[in-house]
Amino acid sequence: MIKLSKRLKIIHDMVPKSVVADIGSDHGKLMIALVQSGIVTKGFAVENKEGPFERLRSNLIKYHVDDKVTPLFSDGIKDITRDVSTIVIAGMGGQSIVSILKAHPEKMVRVQTIIIDAHTAVPLARKEICQMGFAIADEKIVKEDDIFYEIIKFVKAEKAIISDEDLEFGPILRREKSATFKEKYQNRIFEIDSILAKGTLPKGRIHSLNVEKEKLQRYL
Ligand SMILES: C[S@@+](CC[C@H](N)C(=O)[O-])C[C@H]1O[C@@H](n2cnc3c(N)ncnc32)[C@H](O)[C@@H]1O
Repeated sequence: MIKLSKRLKIIHDMVPKSVVADIGSDHGKLMIALVQSGIVTKGFAVENKEGPFERLRSNLIKYHVDDKVTPLFSDGIKDITRDVSTIVIAGMGGQSIVSILKAHPEKMVRVQTIIIDAHTAVPLARKEICQMGFAIADEKIVKEDDIFYEIIKFVKAEKAIISDEDLEFGPILRREKSATFKEKYQNRIFEIDSILAKGTLPKGRIHSLNVEKEKLQRYL
């Protein structure tokens, strides 16, 4: 069994049995693990950079999953087949994830599940994907090498209304309040305190930091 990082293991465990496309597959570890655990019998591993694509292709062969996972040297979802029902996009900025998902609506018709790990602009990704007709079904927060990652699973929904607080903190994460969730925002409060302690900021900036701190305290 190929070894996954904590972050990729969480993503792996959210994937339903389905035709899966992993966009920005890099080393291909996620798709290899998904085949090994019997979750994927047909899928696509997409890369748009030559070096990672070559590594991806040789890993699929090395782990004997190249009969089930097709490597695509391609941009986003452009060349995946229309029977794909799960899309995973991990390790990119939220804006790039949204742009990839919106670029080819014809490839989204059968998609029931989207799993993302956005490294920036997480609230924007929540908002845009909900507006595309998906609702948040699961969320996890994980810390790896001192970085916090939020992994979000969306499923196709009739209606997906989401509040501003849920966009920012995550509807499931903010209710679960895991130790990692608390640590993330506690760290930000410490950071705000140390910025404020320097005492050389314009009034407006001091006010906005205090507003942010009070808001974070309400969620801990
Ligand atoms: C930081 S890596 C993440 C790899 C893996 N998904 C993970 O989470 O460990 C992002 C990968 O996405 C690829 N990528 C970025 N934009 C892409 C696009 N539009 N289409 C396909 N691959 C893309 C990059 O080349 C890179 O290998």
